[in-house]
Amino acid sequence: MKIIIINGPNLNLLGKREPSIYGRKTFEEYFETLQMEFPGITLHYFQSNSEGKIIDKLHETGFSYHGIVLNAGAYTHTSVAIADAIAAIETPVVEVHVSNVFAREAYRQHSYLSEKCVGSIVGLGLKGYELAVRYFL
Ligand code: DQA
Repeated sequence: MKIIIINGPNLNLLGKREPSIYGRKTFEEYFETLQMEFPGITLHYFQSNSEGKIIDKLHETGFSYHGIVLNAGAYTHTSVAIADAIAAIETPVVEVHVSNVFAREAYRQHSYLSEKCVGSIVGLGLKGYELAVRYFL
C-alpha cells in the first residue's frame, strides 16, 4: 500500500513558523515517527511552495497510490486548479489542516478543496496527518 502526504506553501517552515499556531515540531521530525508507526506501508512525503508542482504531484500519484493526504496550505482557500486536479484523479484525497481554520480569519473558513475530498481533518495539530493515514488502512 502506497500513501503520500503532500504539503503546500509555507509548510516547510513547520516548527519555525508561528509556533503558537502550528507548534514547534518540524514536519521532517514528525514524518520519521509517522513512518515508524506504519512500518507495513510505503509512506511518501512531498512538499512544494508552488501550485503547479502540487498539481503535478497529484497527477503523478493519483492513479497508482492508495491514498493521498493533502494540506494545501493557503492554496486551500484560493485554488480552483488544485480542486480540479483532485476531481480529475482516482486516488481518494483526505484534506488536513494543522490549525482549526474555522476558528481563524474568515478567509480561511472556505476551502475550494473540501467538496472534492473524501473528508477533512482540521485543528488537531500534526496528529491530523496520522488520523488521515489511518483512514486508508
Ligand atoms: C493551514 C491553514 C491555512 O489557512 C494556512 O494558509 C496554512 C496552513 C493549516 O495547516 O492549518 O498554510 O493549511
